[in-house]
Amino acid sequence: MSEIEHLMEEARDVAAQSYSPYSHFRVGAVVVAEDGRHFAGCNVENSAYGSSICAEANAITSAVAAGVRRLTAVAVACLDTDECYPCGNCRQLMREFDVAQVIVQDGAGGTRSHTLAALLPHAFGPENLQNG
Ligand code: THU
Repeated sequence: MSEIEHLMEEARDVAAQSYSPYSHFRVGAVVVAEDGRHFAGCNVENSAYGSSICAEANAITSAVAAGVRRLTAVAVACLDTDECYPCGNCRQLMREFDVAQVIVQDGAGGTRSHTLAALLPHAFGPENLQNG
């Protein structure tokens, strides 16, 4: 199994822990830190819908809480659809920590890899505040 397939399998495993009683849309994400550590997260919904947290956000904030500041890759898995992409807010969270590669399901049982720059062109980032 390739490293990318392994990451996607990890993302599917954590998606099985999703707390999504409202949408029934189970998502899992695994982020890879610069030092090679993996951090996983699933979506956690709330009866006050706006308080729900995406899988990617949970994975990224776990990495940050462990001291990580640079991420190389994110894999996102959805158990209830063949293909899904990170939401705009999560793309922006990825931008903050320099994610280069975003791995998603390709809709046919495989994976597809994108640069974050392709998914979030002309992104606002920390460097934009340096002269602020
Ligand atoms: N969701 C994620 O976890 N990540 C995304 O990038 C898109 C959406 C979750 C949020 C909510 O729990 C469910 O999917 C339906 O929107």
